[in-house]
Parts: sequence; C-alpha cells; structure tokens
Amino acid sequence: MSAGLAALISITDRFVNDYGDVVIDINQGSKKLDVKGGANMLVTLAESGIYIPSACGGRGSCGECKVKVNSDVGPHLPTELPYLDEKQMEQNIRLSCQIKLKADVGIDVPEYLFNIKKYSGTIERIRDLTHDIKEVYVSLGGEEISFRAGQYGQFEVPPYDKIKERTQRAYSMSSKPSDKNHAEFLIRLVPGGIVTTYVHERLEEGEKINIVGPFGDFYVRDTEATMICVAGGSGMAPFKSIFYQGIENGLFEKRDIWYFFGARTEKDMFYLDELRELDSQYERFHFVPALSEPEPGTDWQGATGLITEVLDNYLKEKISTEVPKEGYLCGSPGMLDACMSVMRDNDMAEEAIYFDKFA
Ligand SMILES: Cc1cc2nc3c(=O)[nH]c(=O)nc-3n(C[C@H](O)[C@H](O)[C@H](O)COP(=O)(O)OP(=O)(O)OC[C@H]3O[C@@H](n4cnc5c(N)ncnc54)[C@H](O)[C@@H]3O)c2cc1C
Ligand code: FES
Repeated sequence: MSAGLAALISITDRFVNDYGDVVIDINQGSKKLDVKGGANMLVTLAESGIYIPSACGGRGSCGECKVKVNSDVGPHLPTELPYLDEKQMEQNIRLSCQIKLKADVGIDVPEYLFNIKKYSGTIERIRDLTHDIKEVYVSLGGEEISFRAGQYGQFEVPPYDKIKERTQRAYSMSSKPSDKNHAEFLIRLVPGGIVTTYVHERLEEGEKINIVGPFGDFYVRDTEATMICVAGGSGMAPFKSIFYQGIENGLFEKRDIWYFFGARTEKDMFYLDELRELDSQYERFHFVPALSEPEPGTDWQGATGLITEVLDNYLKEKISTEVPKEGYLCGSPGMLDACMSVMRDNDMAEEAIYFDKFA
C-alpha cells in the first residue's frame, strides 16, 4: 500500500471511529500525556510538544521516528520492517508515524528529545544560489536555537493546492550556531516534491513558517584526525555551518580538512569564491571542487571527473595514507554510497565515516 493511501485511510479512520482519550506514559512515569486517540503517535506527541525526529515528515520513508513501545500495539507493520533490525524488533522498537493510538500506551524516548522545540520563524531573505538551489534565511523572532554545526531542522510549509496538511521535511542548517536568532537552509528543488515546490514557487520574504529541531548526529567529532568531507548540491549546507563555525573555534588550526564538492556543470556550482578564500587563508583547509561535465569552451579551473574518481585519486596520491582519517559526507544516497565505498577501499575505517543521506 502506498504511503499516501495509508495516510488517507488513517485520516478517514480517525473521523469514523472514536477512540476516546488515551494516556501516553513516557519513560516509565516521568511524563504522562492525556491525549485524544485515533491519530498516529508521531503527530499526537508533536501536538503535545514532544518532537520525535521525522525527516520524511511521517511518510514512513526515513526510519528516524523510532520509539520503544512498552505496551501491545499489535505486530510490526510491513512499512516498519525495512528500518528495524532483529534486535530492535525484539525490543518492540516501532516507527511512531506508523502506530495509531487506540488505547493507553507506554513508550521510552531519549531525554534529549524533551529539549527539541518548534520555532515560529519569519523568512528574512531568499537568494538563488543556482538554478535549483535557494538559500533561505529565517529569523527566529528573538528566540534562540542551540545546535551543533551539521544538525538539521524540520521545515514546515502550509497546505497548498492539493496538499491538505502542513508538511515537514528535514533540511540541514547552513547557518553557524553562534547566529542563534536565525536558521539558514539550502533547499534544492525536487521536481514534484511537496516542500521544495512550495519553497521554490511560493515562499516569500516576510512569510511566517515553523521550524522544529535541532535533530541529527551529523557533527564534527572531537579528534585530530584528518577530515575528508564530501558533498554534492545542497549537501553543502551542513559544511557551510561547520566551516563558518570552524573559523570561530579554531578548527582549521587544529586539523587538516579536505573538502570535495561535486557538481555536474558550472551552473550547479556555488560559494566558490568564499571557499577558495578559506582555502587560501588556512594552510590546513583544502577545497577541491569538481565538475563531472564541464561545458566545452568554459574556463573551469578545478578538478574534472566524477567526485568518486577525484576522491579516489586524492586519497591515493595527495593525502597522506599514514594519518588517521574521518569521513563526513552529505548529499544524495547514490553519491554517498559510491563515495563511502571509495573511502573503505582506501582503508578508511567504516566506524569513522559519518553521513547524512538526503533521502
Ligand atoms: C537528514 C536530512 C537532511 C536533509 N537536508 C537537506 C538539505 O539541506 N537540503 C535539501 O535540499 N534537502 C535536504 N534533505 C532532503 C529533504 O528532506 C527532502 O527529502 C527533499 O527536499 C524533498 O522534499 P519534497 O517534499 O520536496 O519532496 P517529496 O514530496 O518528499 O518527494 C517527491 C518525490 O521525490 C522523491 N525525492 C525525495 N527527495 C528526493 C531527492 N533529494 N532527490 C530526488 N528525489 C527525491 C521522493 O521519493 C518522491 O517520490 C535532507 C534529508 C534528510 C533525511
Ligand atoms: S517519520 Fe519518517 S519513517 Fe516515520
């Protein structure tokens, strides 16, 4: 059954059947919520101010919304199975977006989730970075957000056209954490996509939007290992945050950083001047932009080829094989999988490779 059809059935069921009030017992009595039954657990918790990570916005396609359920809520659904391993199944870990609340239930969630908030923001600036990527700078109206460079927020857009509900998707924050009153995002248009179509065709400066966060475990580990960073397209976002924070916290003096950024043609490249400036300013920061299909007749000064080929070449020829390395990758799942394979083939340890797949 498609996620859309499942959602429709679930909404209809909520109106046809009255499940009455139910109690959600969180972390064995540490919090109790009296809520209306019938909706899914993810939405119901969010309505009570408890935000479980939900990068796909509750479509059952990210596997991020896991909670441990201590009551019988029925067997695992086929939609949950791809995201759970055997141990998680035994522990009754569930995808909260797939569980409908029909009776009292007990769940365990990590304590840090209680600090995640919904921010009411105002779009301060929208800028075209390429033909399909926009930089969206949001004022949090005097509120402050605390996050680690590399983490993401869930950006919520209102109903429009045939989309009847508010919709959230995950976007890495590209602003630096010290800019606490703002959050910036780099949002690439996915043709036909709900949130990106709204952002690219309708979102205006001055408009109010909600952001929920921060979420995610993509951030720089506190070691001295050489950082091998790879991104494509809007995968630039967390690295912008990491590097601008790096200027403030001395990251570039402390460790070697290689940043490989892949694009197809010149029209897909952005922030080149800013990153080249960092490269010339900091001896230990090396920026390697690469085009897979540079247009004939243009004066492209960077590397040429697939980002996997460029990465492989640098790992073999230009970066010392003796030093410990950490991998940091962000972008489309296909590119990430291919680059991780190159890293492993070049003896980088699997457990020292960190990534956010923009799926
Ligand atoms: C942790 C995390 C961080 C992310 N950070 C960013 C970011 O900084 N910038 C950014 O632009 N995106 C980012 N994404 C992707 C983003 O969350 C959305 O998935 C994406 O913008 C599509 O949303 P949509 O509502 O427009 O499309 P949807 O309505 O969700 O999807 C429409 C169709 O497009 C397909 N689709 C979804 N995403 C993609 C994609 N990326 N490429 C091709 N097809 C796709 C879907 O399978 C579906 O068939 C991130 C994702 C994750 C999980
Ligand atoms: S929110 Fe993405 S799978 Fe549940």
